[in-house]
Amino acid sequence: VSAVLPAALNLPPRTVFGAGASAAVLNECVSLGRRGLIVHGRSAQRSGALQRILDRCPAGAQAATWCHPGGEPGLQQLESLLRDARAERPDWVVGFGGGSVLDMSKACAGLLRAPCGVVEYHNGARIPDASVPFVAVPTTAGTGSEATTVCVLTNESTREKKSFRHPSFMARLVVLDPGLLCGSPPEVIASAGMDAFVQAVESFLSSGSTWLTEAMSLKAAALVASNLEAAWRGGQGDCLSDLMTGSYLAGVALSHARLGLVHGLAHPLGARYGIPHGYLCAACLPAVLEFNRPACCEKFERLSGALGVDVAVRTRQLLEAVGVPAVLAGWRLEDQDGIVRETLASGSTAANPRDVEDGDVRRILDGLFCAVHARA
Ligand SMILES: [Fe+2]
Repeated sequence: VSAVLPAALNLPPRTVFGAGASAAVLNECVSLGRRGLIVHGRSAQRSGALQRILDRCPAGAQAATWCHPGGEPGLQQLESLLRDARAERPDWVVGFGGGSVLDMSKACAGLLRAPCGVVEYHNGARIPDASVPFVAVPTTAGTGSEATTVCVLTNESTREKKSFRHPSFMARLVVLDPGLLCGSPPEVIASAGMDAFVQAVESFLSSGSTWLTEAMSLKAAALVASNLEAAWRGGQGDCLSDLMTGSYLAGVALSHARLGLVHGLAHPLGARYGIPHGYLCAACLPAVLEFNRPACCEKFERLSGALGVDVAVRTRQLLEAVGVPAVLAGWRLEDQDGIVRETLASGSTAANPRDVEDGDVRRILDGLFCAVHARA
């Protein structure tokens, strides 16, 4: 039986929700200090959403901007961001973008005044409690990064993709503006949405789940499953609000309950194959569900109840509905030993409801790379 509450509850102290809410984010930020830095992606620049925020910068406040160049968020990128950020001496950092931008900006705020280089923290050095306030404005739904203390970054030299975290990394303010999802390319909606669905499912099945996180995970899974296709088809309004809510709730849940084997596999595979994280997670989910089912029949029933149909069936329907490709099928499996080693060492794998052994990972990998069409 799960505990009711996690051992420690760490939530964003303030979450603002509503279409258009992001335009006034700098009005909220000035209470944190006069000077700030907005870290953003290219799409926020292209769509004009960044300019709309800057246009409403209150008198007396200053906001510098830093554009994430794209690609997998990495330690060298973070070093370069930190160099520029330290020159600006911001009182707060806004992350305005998808999961990569949020993870980079969160790490920037968290490590801005930290004495060591980022590689040391990535390798496990103790992170000091020295962050500047972080404000998260997600433009995808999503990784749920706005609701977690976790940053997932890749060491470009070793290709090691892993997370580091600190309680002080929690966003001081989260702005959930479903209007920011309007006009997102369908493949971004699909990939980010599948990540949210997988995170809802894995945090629910996790051995670290509690009554509180299970309630959030179930609601998140149902919200994402019933709204992803409509959003992918270009729908607006409620489907986007529900998708953004689902992604946020999954983020809160995983931050406390952790995840499972899908994410254990997705990080080493993502670092090597450069496939969008959500597509990778989606590709791994069917096989991991099958592997986990015997270990948690009762939870499968509750999850399937919330989804209205068996979770494995719902997963296949979703993959079909939003055109998720079988991303690993046909590729050569390279560095299998390295992938297996990193999967087994992952904190996500440690929270998987069924113990995972070397042979289990190899069997699942063989299936993923051999499958001509994983969702057939
Ligand atoms: Fe994820």
